[in-house]
Amino acid sequence: MKKILIVLGVCSVIMACNSAEKSESTEDTTAAVEQVAIDTSAAPVAPASSGSAKGEQLISGSDCLTCHKVDTKIVGPSYVDVANKYEASEANIEMLAGKIINGGSGSWGEIPMAPHAALSTDDAKEMVKYILSLKTK
Ligand code: HEC
Repeated sequence: MKKILIVLGVCSVIMACNSAEKSESTEDTTAAVEQVAIDTSAAPVAPASSGSAKGEQLISGSDCLTCHKVDTKIVGPSYVDVANKYEASEANIEMLAGKIINGGSGSWGEIPMAPHAALSTDDAKEMVKYILSLKTK
């Protein structure tokens, strides 16, 4: 339940830009979530060209957003911070995909990231490509 609330929160932030006139009612928020889940390419956070829409979709479908937001640190670093820290090289994509699958700690602080052993390497790499496409500097 907590996770759903956080996901709703993230979605309402994402949707705020293009549906500001929408009321805060639960039904509207639910509709917004469905829209994000079905058509992630419509989300304004998706970068126009360099990003991986598939990676973004995989992230929305996993538990990542419980600990990560695009531009705000929660439990884990914001994706923008991660993107700004690493060059989008093949080596870094492999390394970060490995961290998502196996878990990791020490790059951003004491709190470890939980492993995601069920993810395939290809899916984890798509997620990393999407994250690294959020680079702002
Ligand atoms: C339980 C909370 C939690 C969840 C769930 C979580 N993360 Fe993390 N993540 C963290 C923390 C904490 C760190 C910082 C780890 C460190 O300091 O090395 C982190 C770090 C990262 C990093 C940067 C790793 C590095 O070495 O710089 C990436 C990329 C990342 N997470 C992606 C994801 C993705 C993709 C998912 C979903 C599949 C996910 N995370 C789910 C907590 C989480």
